[in-house]
Amino acid sequence: MLTGKRVLLIISGGIAAYKSLELIRRLRERGAAVRCVLTRAGAQFVTPLSLAALSGDKVYGELFDLTDEAEMGHIQLSRDADLLVVAPASADLLAKMAQGRADDLASTALLATDKAVLVAPAMNVRMWEHAATQANLAALKARGVLTVGPNEGDMACGEYGFGRMAEPQEILAAIEAALGLPGRLSGLRALVTSGPTHEPIDPVRYIANRSSGKQGHAIAAALARHGAETTLVSGPSQLPDPPGLRTVRVETAQEMLAACRAALPVEVAVCAAAVADWRAAHAAQHKLKKDNGAPAALELAQNPDILSELSQAGGQRPSLVIGFAAETERVVEQGRAKLARKGCDWILANDVAPGTATFGGESNRIHLITADGVDDWPQMTKTEVAERLCRQIAATLGR
Ligand code: C5P
Repeated sequence: MLTGKRVLLIISGGIAAYKSLELIRRLRERGAAVRCVLTRAGAQFVTPLSLAALSGDKVYGELFDLTDEAEMGHIQLSRDADLLVVAPASADLLAKMAQGRADDLASTALLATDKAVLVAPAMNVRMWEHAATQANLAALKARGVLTVGPNEGDMACGEYGFGRMAEPQEILAAIEAALGLPGRLSGLRALVTSGPTHEPIDPVRYIANRSSGKQGHAIAAALARHGAETTLVSGPSQLPDPPGLRTVRVETAQEMLAACRAALPVEVAVCAAAVADWRAAHAAQHKLKKDNGAPAALELAQNPDILSELSQAGGQRPSLVIGFAAETERVVEQGRAKLARKGCDWILANDVAPGTATFGGESNRIHLITADGVDDWPQMTKTEVAERLCRQIAATLGR
């Protein structure tokens, strides 16, 4: 909870500003007082009236509004808060912060503050990747400014990449962490598997699948944000190691199982990895040459089933073992069967049929299957799925 905490929310220009309305609601639900500063560019995207209605407070805009200065100067505005949150943080405002400029109320409050500052950048991918923006961000981080996001995905401008503002729930968790509040899952130990596995045929060839690791990494990151002591066991993935947790990188299913066993005991295990069911029975030490005559058939051996192993780990069985069922047809029916077969507690069944873009995509549609029945979740981003799963885990474990 954030009861009694005061957040100064600075909203700069960007289409992501609409998500800040949701952030205000979530902050107030959790007991925080929110006061908003809206930049001139921000006001092109959300209105002061919406912010005032949701925050229940006056909205501040111009620096040289004498009435405001009489009521509350910019120094007091920033000193009065426990935390300053900039969401969305535009490339322009980040640049101003990095340079220490103070030509409007937002930048002045940021320069005048002696409180922690959290920024949620949101901008076009090229602007985000530009060396100027990255240098500004590095300078801010070096001064102790905290960051959340941006996430990768489709952008309002039609491009794709990093630059989407973090989701309100992610920003909320980052605010709790910035305020030093114990997360809902603090003290809990969690293990997540993610990504594909690579099963070598010879030193240059391997058996693999199309898993990107996005869902598993998002779950590990969300667990960590909520305070869980998290180990992420990741197969080969392009994704960076998420912050605030321990990542163990592996290649094969057998290595993944060994890393999972080494991470025990944990209270919660989420198996999101797309583990190869089969491996080459005899991986060649040297590259197979076609002029030596290609092998007539590739002999396969079955890989260990990590989800089943964790579900049957005897005295070391986690209290909650959660698996995924990626299916292309009869999704719920097959998910139910998998729950029984694997001996886990929950299955998150999702449709990966061609056209759903679940594999490698940004969103997911989950059916949560438990002994009590099936809960159909709406289509959500993978980050939102991760957040909802964390809430469900917290509620189930009585946190
Ligand atoms: O059997 P299937 O691969 O459809 O089951 C999917 C679930 O089982 C996922 O949670 C996946 O992470 C897990 N699994 C595993 N080890 C395997 C195969 C699947 O942990 N060898």
